[in-house]
Amino acid sequence: MKLFIDTGSVAEVEEIAGWGILSGATTNPSLLAKEDGEPGEIICRICDLVNGPVSAEVVSDKAEGMIAEGRALSELHEHVIVKTPFSTAGLAACRALSDDGIRVNMTLVFSANQALLAAEAGATYISCFMGRLDDISINSTDVVREIVEALRPGGTTSQVLAASLRHPEHVVTAARLGCEVATAPAKVLHQMLDHPLTTAGIDRFAADWKERPEFGEWLKGLVESRAAATH
Ligand code: E4P
Repeated sequence: MKLFIDTGSVAEVEEIAGWGILSGATTNPSLLAKEDGEPGEIICRICDLVNGPVSAEVVSDKAEGMIAEGRALSELHEHVIVKTPFSTAGLAACRALSDDGIRVNMTLVFSANQALLAAEAGATYISCFMGRLDDISINSTDVVREIVEALRPGGTTSQVLAASLRHPEHVVTAARLGCEVATAPAKVLHQMLDHPLTTAGIDRFAADWKERPEFGEWLKGLVESRAAATH
């Protein structure tokens, strides 16, 4: 499963892209509205940093407006994926943009029926919002499972993108259910790093190595000889 970062913050993308784990990013109007700066510049900077698909959302509520915004957004950067909200207008825009060769992320999908419609409209990504389902006491695991199971037999090329992830367990669930992508906020990506045994293990290795200073000198020499030989 590919990991995307869900953010409008260039600083967050800069930090986490450095880990080498990001395949793309998702933004939305709410995330971008929290940021200073011009949205187009932010989107392009994120595209350059992740070097992969970056979703940028239309805001019009009419298909015609969504298509116009989607075409303009797609020209910002080759990595831009146009996000359209799930609605009849969103479906029509998704079909028109997909027919133009523009990749679409159909967002705000909360059921297998909506996912089936999004796939038929040509969506490249179908975003199912897990956290918002859990918020209203609908089991997001059941819904995502149903979406994956409904789409697979038809051989659709649409990818299921687990979104609205609130904790690391959502990420694991998305992977186990066969989602192609999970988009997580920086906070959740940070939480995924943590395990007390890892921290304790690193501390133990460092302490044991320090007990043998001559070994430290040996490794330093090894690095220096290699650097000298390669220059
Ligand atoms: C996905 O693309 C959305 O931007 C996002 O995951 C929404 O998450 P939220 O429900 O935490 O706002």
